[in-house]
Amino acid sequence: MKQAIYPGSFDPVTLGHLDIIRRGSRVVDHLIVAVLVNSAKSPLFSVEERVEMLRHETAHMPNVEVQSFQGLLVDYARMTGSAFIVRGLRAVTDFEYELQISQTNKMIAPEIDTVFFTTSLNYSYVSSSVVKEIASYGGAIEKMVTPYVAECVKTKIKMQMEEQSYEQH
Ligand code: PNS
Repeated sequence: MKQAIYPGSFDPVTLGHLDIIRRGSRVVDHLIVAVLVNSAKSPLFSVEERVEMLRHETAHMPNVEVQSFQGLLVDYARMTGSAFIVRGLRAVTDFEYELQISQTNKMIAPEIDTVFFTTSLNYSYVSSSVVKEIASYGGAIEKMVTPYVAECVKTKIKMQMEEQSYEQH
């Protein structure tokens, strides 16, 4: 069985991520979408919330499974029997970072290959950070995430703002 792993922070999952998941799932028998636990970044959503959003958005894809992982990606890939790592490339600016990660992973685990999908042009500007930035100023994010995720982001940001104003008083 050909199995790949698509790792990331997914904070939150965007239409760009879903495009890669859709296309990635077509070239393998089984695709594991793996949400990184303990990312150095301070995330907006908990790992459980990110996994839940991803499961909601991929429920109609029978060969896609969503899990979370800690530690080294290649260890998780080995543990799950995944021969490939899938990543998306939006622009040339992603390239250097992605090349470094993939070469590091290849050095640690030579039997695992990274496969890149170039992001569809409509999503080349979309990132989780941009979604959070725009939403924090009350801007429209509907072209970057699904309606369900848009609601989750708005609710979360509203909750955060209420918490902050409560702490200030
Ligand atoms: O969505 P992101 O934040 O760009 O995903 C980055 C990710 C999760 C692919 C990367 O940080 C990762 O694989 N982290 C796990 C730790 C690891 O294996 N590091 C070695 C490669 S540098």
